[in-house]
Order: sequence, then structure tokens, then C-alpha cells
Amino acid sequence: MSDSQGPGAEPLSRLMGATVSRRGLVKGAAAVTAALAFPGGATAGATGLQRLPGSNADRVALARGLVSDLVIRWGDPLFLDAPGLDARAAARGALLEARPGVAARQYGYNNDAVHFFPLDGGRVRGLLCVNHEYTNEELFLPGLEGLETLEPARIEAYVRRHPQVVSLSLAMHGVSVLLVERDLRGRWRHVPGSRWARRITGASPCEITGPARGHPLLRTGADPAGVMVLGTLNNCAGGQTPWGTYLTAEENVDKYFGGAGALERADPALREAHRRMPPKPASEHGWEHVEARFDLAREPAEMLRFGWVVEIDPLDPSAVPKKRTALGRCKHECAATALTKNGRLAVYSGDDDRFEYLYKFVTADPVHPTKREANRDLLDRGTLYVARFDADGSGRWLPLVHGNGPLTPGNGFASQGDVVLRLRAAADLVGATPMDRPEDVAPDAATGRVYVSLTNNVNRQPVSTRGTWNGRELDLGPDAANPRGPNPFGHVIEIEEGGGDCGALAFRWSLLLEAGPDGGPSPLGSPDNLALDGEGNLWIVTDGKQPGGHHNGCFVVPTHGPERGRPRQVMSAPAGAEVCGCSFTPDFTTLFLAIQHPGEGGTLETPRSSWPDGPGHVPRPSLIALRREDGEPLG
Ligand code: FEO
Ligand code: CA
Ligand code: CA
Repeated sequence: MSDSQGPGAEPLSRLMGATVSRRGLVKGAAAVTAALAFPGGATAGATGLQRLPGSNADRVALARGLVSDLVIRWGDPLFLDAPGLDARAAARGALLEARPGVAARQYGYNNDAVHFFPLDGGRVRGLLCVNHEYTNEELFLPGLEGLETLEPARIEAYVRRHPQVVSLSLAMHGVSVLLVERDLRGRWRHVPGSRWARRITGASPCEITGPARGHPLLRTGADPAGVMVLGTLNNCAGGQTPWGTYLTAEENVDKYFGGAGALERADPALREAHRRMPPKPASEHGWEHVEARFDLAREPAEMLRFGWVVEIDPLDPSAVPKKRTALGRCKHECAATALTKNGRLAVYSGDDDRFEYLYKFVTADPVHPTKREANRDLLDRGTLYVARFDADGSGRWLPLVHGNGPLTPGNGFASQGDVVLRLRAAADLVGATPMDRPEDVAPDAATGRVYVSLTNNVNRQPVSTRGTWNGRELDLGPDAANPRGPNPFGHVIEIEEGGGDCGALAFRWSLLLEAGPDGGPSPLGSPDNLALDGEGNLWIVTDGKQPGGHHNGCFVVPTHGPERGRPRQVMSAPAGAEVCGCSFTPDFTTLFLAIQHPGEGGTLETPRSSWPDGPGHVPRPSLIALRREDGEPLG
């Protein structure tokens, strides 16, 4: 974190107020007006936007009254001296010979989380931090089918023949920091070469901080102290702190490591550390055949150094990213923040796997409202909780604190470092509720209402059934908070924190919506990322099967009034893509959406999509800015 914010940066107090003030101020009056003017009508509703029917077109389709700007595409240069991707040459297989150094200077692949950091008030200028979750090699390299279905032997043969593709893919992972600004017509554009421009990749040094720093299980041959990792991987959703830093969440990190068989001969502590997030015999990308650290037979601890929430200071391109281990290790979907009533920071995170849990971390110390530097390492100290949803509509945040309850040396937890490293196992012991893939979380600090998307769970059983999942035995049947077995379309839960305080230990909960074909005129499936607008409507983007067989999209769901829980589609994605991001500017006039993996399901040779550049071009994951034509706030 930089000592000063630099010229043009937003004062800390404004950054801190930005996400709650307008929402708090306008909510009451505006919500009432909207409900009276448009009582559930077909064309207006809570957002005043028309409903878009589902689409299967290979483009971004929008409800009438909306426009979008194509802000930046995979391969666009972040720096003035970097070349841009030639999407025509790439469609002919040219990336097989590409230099990875070039990719590390360009906007990465598969953009996911997007967060906006206002500069100069944020109406015309700001920084974007964007995650690049993973790569679809089959869409930009010749001679590959989908990596998830390809036999390991063929992946191994491919990377041994073309070892350069491993560093190319590593360079396409990670995070981008870029400057965006609006032109005179209100359109957003990327400004390359700003002094904040930065690429963090799967090979950039990141520091380990918090209770697991230096833990024996985090020490490797290359880092015997267990304090510095090369890279951040599978960065899914994220969050932003009131002091203007970015939180990026490492999700499916097990995809990158192979050689799990070697663990059978490893010492029991190491095996136990891997038990609840098990590695596979072969990775999805074959990296272990080229780089020793991705091979558990040669480096059994490296994988444990991924699966954390990482804090990045977008205002200081020289600041080393920090893996904040106090928030625990799992498949973190997000790190969504809200101030508590006593000025601390709550960070919510879903562990996106079937039958995994919802977490909340609350800092020990309050956020300093004006001195940015005082918040530098705030996320290293605090209390981590996991959610238990009870059948009577109540719920508890159960502390995951070493020495508390079952988290004792007798149960294998010798320190808080052990608790955060084996987070899932600790949560099992305290009695957390296994959920249907907890994804994004949208907390509203002003009301203490917190929305949680559960994407789906086809393995949820119709009736109570004992079974084994991810290294432990549990009941795979339905419960009150995950009522459908199987659950192919997912649901959204509304939590009301006790006393309206995101720092509370007790809450009430209810189902906001159960996705699927019965979900009204715009049924949605597989709710993924979430954002609240200025009037308390929940914006939902999807990742998965849609009830009508259409492409993924963006939906608006009122949380109050007669239309509560009834989605209205406003945007549809190109072929094969999921929609990610879903972050507003502080004035709610712009929603940033990341179009991830357009063309997935096809290959380079048999493309399903050529978005956004058109036929003859490789499809490019890209960032769009959604606005109203009339410039008014979206909510
Ligand atoms: Fe990266 Fe859970 O989606
Ligand atoms: Ca996601
Ligand atoms: Ca997703």
C-alpha cells in the first residue's frame, strides 16, 4: 500500500462512503416511488427497464433503453510499448509460437471480477481491477479439445511438445489494473499506459501474511521460509476495501496441480492438509510436466499456497500483493465487504464447491476513516466465522478460532495457522451448513441485508442420504436452506444480520428466489455474481444452464414489493459465455460486466463464437460497460 494516494486519487473518506451513502439516502423514497408507478407491469418494474427475452445470438443483446461500451478485450495492450493481440492470426493458431512476455503486458484471459476505484470523484475516471480466472487453451491453441474432457495423456503429450504454452497460460492468468475514463458522450474507454497500469500473473511474487505465514506446511524448496509465493491463480470474484484496495479470491486452484498419488507416501499432516480440498492425479492444464512446483510428487506443499484471498493496492503498482491467510483457505468465490456498526470490516466469502460453506471474517480493529496507511494490514487480524442455517429461519455465525470448541490440539489444530489452512475441516467440526455451491455475496452495510447466490448442486439428494464428499462423510439430502435435491438451477438466500449489523453473530434468513423454469416471465438458472443497485434491487449474472435453453445473461430482481424475487432479464451474452463482474460505479450509472469464455464448448478449429471481433477472429473474453441511453442511474 502506498503512503500517499498520489495526485488525482479519491480522498479516503469518499472512497469509504461511496458504496453506502447514495444507496442509503435514496433507498426509501425511490423504492416507494418505483413500486407505486410501476406495480409489476410488463415493461417497467423496479428498474424502469424493458424485459429482454432470452437470446441465442452470438452477441451482447440488451433490453431497450440500454447501451454498452466494449471497454477492453483479452490481448489488448495495457502498456504503450506492448503489441496487441492479432485475433485473425490467433484464429489460425499463431499463439502456439507466441512469447509469454507479451501476454504479461496485455489484458489477460477470461475476465471475471471487476471492481471500480473512482478517481476525481469517479464520474469520468477510475481504475478497474479485473480478475483473469482461467484459460480455455482449446479456444486459442490448435489441436486441442476441451481440457476438462481431454485425457491426461494427451494433455501431457501436448505440453511436452509445446512447453512454451505453460508460461503463456500463466501469463494470461492473474489480475489487470487499468485506467478507464468516459468521453464526452459518456462512453467508457480504456486509457493504456497510465501510471497505474499493471499486470499480476500466475508467476508474480505475492507475500503470505497472517496466521499461516511461515507455517511448516507452506514451506517449499524455493521458499523455505513459507512467506513468498509465485503468482495468484483462478481469481474468480473479489471485493474492494473502504481504503481503496482490491481483494481477489483464488477459487479452483486444484485444477493446476498434478501428482496427487504421491500424497499416499507423504506424512500424515500433509495428507490431512489436502484431505478436504483434494488434488488430482493429473492437472487440467498439464503444467506439472513442465514446471516442478505444480507436481505434488516434487513439491507437495505448493498447492497449499493457493486458495487464499489476496489484497492488491491499485494505487501503488510497486506494492507486492498479499495473501491474507486470516480469511482462510478454500475455493474462495468472492471477498465482499461491508462496514460493521462499530466500524470494523466484514468480509463475506462463499466456498464454491458442492456441499461447502459460507464464511465471514470480521477485522479485530476498526477501519481508520482517514489514514489509509493505518489500514495496511487490518486484514491480518480478526475473527473468521462460518454460517449455520437453522430450519426455523434463524442462523449463527460460528467462530473458527483456535482453542475454541473442537478446534483444539486434540483434534489436530495446534494453532490458528492450522485452522485457516484446514478451513473446511475446521468448519466441519463446528457444525456449519453444507450449501449448494455458495458463490457471490452482496452485503448492504446500511441495512444489514446480505444476499448469497447458490449456483446449483446436481448432487444434492432428494432425501436424507449419508454419503462421502470431498473427504468427509455427511448427509447429502436437502435441508431448509438448500431445499431441493437435486438442485440444477440454484437459488438466492437473503440474510438479515442481527440488529442490521454486518458484525452480528446471529441472523435471520429466507429464500429470495428459487431459480428454474417456474421463476416467472424471465426465469434464470445458475445465479453467480451479484450486485445491489441504489434502490436495493439485486442484479444477478448467470453461469450455467438456463431454464429456457438460452445463453447466460444479466437479470434484475427486486428485493421489496410485489415483484420481490421475480427476475427480469436485461442482457444476454454471446455463445458459450458466462457473465461475470457485475459491479456498479458509485453513482450507479454504469454496470461493468465481464464476458467470460465466449465460444466455450467449441475449439479453435470449430468455433462456436467469434465475439466481439466477428467471423475469422478468435473469440475474446472482454469487458463491457452497461449504461442507460438517457444517462440515468440503472437502479
Ligand atoms: Fe469462478 Fe464459482 O465461479
Ligand atoms: Ca463465479
Ligand atoms: Ca462462474
